[in-house]
Amino acid sequence: MLHATNTGTNVNHQETVSHASRLIREKLGNVQAGTLGLVLGSGLTPVADAITGAVDIPFAEITGLPQSAVAGHGGFLRAGRLSGRPVLALCGRVHLYEGASAAETCLPVRTLGALGVGTLIITNAAGALNPLFNAGSLMLITDHINMTGQNPLTGPNIDAFGPRFPDMGRAWCPDLVALARREAVGLGLLMERGVYMQIPGPSLETPAETRAYRQMGADAIGMSTVMEAIAARHMGLRLLGISCLTNKNMPDCMDPISHEAVLDMAGRTAKQMARLLSALAANPALDTPSGAA
Ligand code: HPA
Repeated sequence: MLHATNTGTNVNHQETVSHASRLIREKLGNVQAGTLGLVLGSGLTPVADAITGAVDIPFAEITGLPQSAVAGHGGFLRAGRLSGRPVLALCGRVHLYEGASAAETCLPVRTLGALGVGTLIITNAAGALNPLFNAGSLMLITDHINMTGQNPLTGPNIDAFGPRFPDMGRAWCPDLVALARREAVGLGLLMERGVYMQIPGPSLETPAETRAYRQMGADAIGMSTVMEAIAARHMGLRLLGISCLTNKNMPDCMDPISHEAVLDMAGRTAKQMARLLSALAANPALDTPSGAA
């Protein structure tokens, strides 16, 4: 069941975000400079285990933030340290297919932005469309395609968050992609790079859709992330995205995909994701505006 109390206007969303950030500040104190924001997607909640000194706040206690009941989505904010760096991790997210509006799915990310997080790493579970990619690999997101037909910025612009027409020419920070690539090489992790496409779901792709999406230029596909990326870029956050490729979709030999199998593969790849995120968090380059080492 989806608990979204915000079905109103964008103005209400501004109030929700400022209320949520005030409540979080009351519980945790001010957010320190250099705090890293994380969104941990399907089956990746185990990455949160690498966070030390953790304080959890269930989304249910943060008025106005939507909660997901999808298996594998924990539904809490975890504050703590990753490799010594302060982090705020959103463990679990709400999806469009649960009935939330595009803007509602972005309330948690906007709250991190309002709290002063400068860099956000978004993770997800995704299906590989690139025939050269394999299930079990990680993929750095270099660009995205919004195939949802929706946009979290629809409606009156919230000027306090960002401009009416935010540029998406460099939505995913190339310097952070380069930094993550170097860290992955250092750790000996197999790391792809590619374009992520968000569909609304919950139905999975037909063979014809799979062929079409691949021809459009997508390397991986999932049901999250792009809405959050748009909202984060609107607020000027620096973005890095990492997909955990849980399955491979080939239009001429489609394998059945089960949510359980996706979660199982995400869980198995979560260890690699945790190693990469820990290495990134330890890198002082994450503090610099360019992200370059
Ligand atoms: N399609 C859409 N979403 C997904 C997939 C997929 O193949 N795998 C994980 N999330």
